[in-house]
Amino acid sequence: MPLKRMMPLIVLLMLVSISLVSAQEDLPPLRELADLNDFYIGAAARADNINTPAYAETLAGEFNMLTPENEAKFCELQPQQGSFDFDELDRLVDFAAENNMVVRGHTLLWHRCNPDWLLNGAFSREEAIDIMREHIFTVMQRYQGRIAIWDVVNEAVNEDGNLRNTIWLQWIGEEYIDLAFQFAREADPDALLFYNDYDGEGRSNKANAIYELVAGMVERGIPLDGVGLQMHIELGETEAYQAVNTTNLTNNLTRLGELGLQVQITEMDVYYEGEATEEVFDRQAGDYYRVLQTCLNHEACTALAIWGVHDQVSWLRQEEHSENTDVEPLIFDGKYQPKPAYFALLDVLARAAGAAPVLSDEVATAYADGAILREIVIPEPTLSNEAQLAPDAVHGVAYYAPFPVFIELDGDLADWENVPRVSMGDTSEDANTESVTFAAAADDTNFYFMANVRDSNLVYGVYEPLNEWYKEDSVEFYLNTTDNLFATRYSTGIAQIGVLAANIENPEETIFGGYNGADVNVTAVAVETEDGYIIEAAVPLENDVWTITPANGQILGFQVHLNGATSAEDSQTTKLIWSAADADDQSWRNPSVFGRLIFWEVNSQ
Ligand code: G3I
Repeated sequence: MPLKRMMPLIVLLMLVSISLVSAQEDLPPLRELADLNDFYIGAAARADNINTPAYAETLAGEFNMLTPENEAKFCELQPQQGSFDFDELDRLVDFAAENNMVVRGHTLLWHRCNPDWLLNGAFSREEAIDIMREHIFTVMQRYQGRIAIWDVVNEAVNEDGNLRNTIWLQWIGEEYIDLAFQFAREADPDALLFYNDYDGEGRSNKANAIYELVAGMVERGIPLDGVGLQMHIELGETEAYQAVNTTNLTNNLTRLGELGLQVQITEMDVYYEGEATEEVFDRQAGDYYRVLQTCLNHEACTALAIWGVHDQVSWLRQEEHSENTDVEPLIFDGKYQPKPAYFALLDVLARAAGAAPVLSDEVATAYADGAILREIVIPEPTLSNEAQLAPDAVHGVAYYAPFPVFIELDGDLADWENVPRVSMGDTSEDANTESVTFAAAADDTNFYFMANVRDSNLVYGVYEPLNEWYKEDSVEFYLNTTDNLFATRYSTGIAQIGVLAANIENPEETIFGGYNGADVNVTAVAVETEDGYIIEAAVPLENDVWTITPANGQILGFQVHLNGATSAEDSQTTKLIWSAADADDQSWRNPSVFGRLIFWEVNSQ
């Protein structure tokens, strides 16, 4: 296939710089555009920060709503039974009043932040009801007319959809929730009463359980005005297969709205693993864009609050909450500078209000479509050998996989002839360290992977295959078949597939491992060779977790690792990694470090 006939395959998913339609300095603040939309744009605020001028200016200048991050919680307000401390909450409520901001009270009842006297108390049902009533009345009546919205109950539903076994459930029973809302309505008839929770945004078991909970309350006539969806998400989580998908979010807003309830996004932040690159901030902006646009496009959704004024005060930087304590999940950086996510929210509000857009149509559309705003530049394909069925691989970056190529899983590499090969490790004749040469291809049924491993000292059948398979001689290939090749965590459609040398002795049933590896129906053979072993594997293009339809130029996330053990005791003494982005063996937990595989249709160029 002469190169000149090959269409240059430059895969550019444009890196779209943030081109502001109007100069940054004359942009209206978020709150001005939110007011035009009759919408609340809020932030979690801390009383101990409002004496910092830049913090106060940003909070009051940009937001028309604030949520006391901790100051309205039980442990802060009633540290001793019957003894209330309102000083910190007063400071925030006074600040809000001075700056014409609405206050979201958060939260009257929760399973966390309960003072010892309550947590360790032994109360009868009646006593517990009295304590609950006393707390709700004391707090709400003090702030009547000053705190307009209350999270009456927070996070009462478990991930499995059952009620969380809180102290209130233990002492009072399931009706504690109804009682809390009835007390709240009595205490302040004008306040809007919300049920607030996380992971209720999409269509998960928990989201469905939250819907059933509030639907039951509405049916019983319990005073409830809305549901808070916290929206603590991770980068890219609003993609098609994630818990927070804008279609699922819209459907959720619809079914909650049909109950006559408002919905508010109450604690949004966008977490990610790894470095804070331009790429991360750009995609973070897309997530904020899509969530706010989905909310604003739905009449039931009346507010979006960010869980912190700027990155440095994010709860996610507290050790116990995340691995990435340098994370920058909010819309202002630690120096109060607006990030791409800020301009994303501004653009959504501006366009919804019919005001001048803030971003170019190109960027706004890409954010709204969830496009991967990244430059995946694959250099002009080269072909070092005319007989090759696809261009040369770009080491550590891109592998061109020819299709259709039929492969027989028989340990014989004849049918891999002319399929591009990639080698890792020292493959020179006299080398005495492990190395591997791999290849990939597809036909209309399977994706095929081959590894020819040089390893003079085979170690296998030593470790427990299910969880420790990678400690002995094995080859791993990874696929990300989703539309989010920058996902930083595994989900349906992303799999690590480890094939063990132990298959040499186990031809009848494939021994494999890997994150989501069990879902892909991999079959493989391994045969010993004079200097190591060969693995051939096949995964169906269509299985329970993905449908891959090879098309010329189609891109998947792709990665290859080689594991070598020196002995039964010295496990994984060799680790060879193909993708240049996986600098420290992170592919097992973070698919964003995979390289790329580009399907190349044979004889079509
Ligand atoms: O203020 C004390 C300080 O005096 C003391 O030295 C220090 C010792 O640990 O604790 C400080 O209080 C901390 C408080 O935040 C203020 O920073 C608490 O330990 C810490 O547990 C508390 O964490 C808060 C967490 O809720 C628990 O209340 C986070 O800031 C807050 O962002 C987080 O917010 C929750 C929402 O309320 C509900 N949805 C989930 C969200 C994240 O967990």
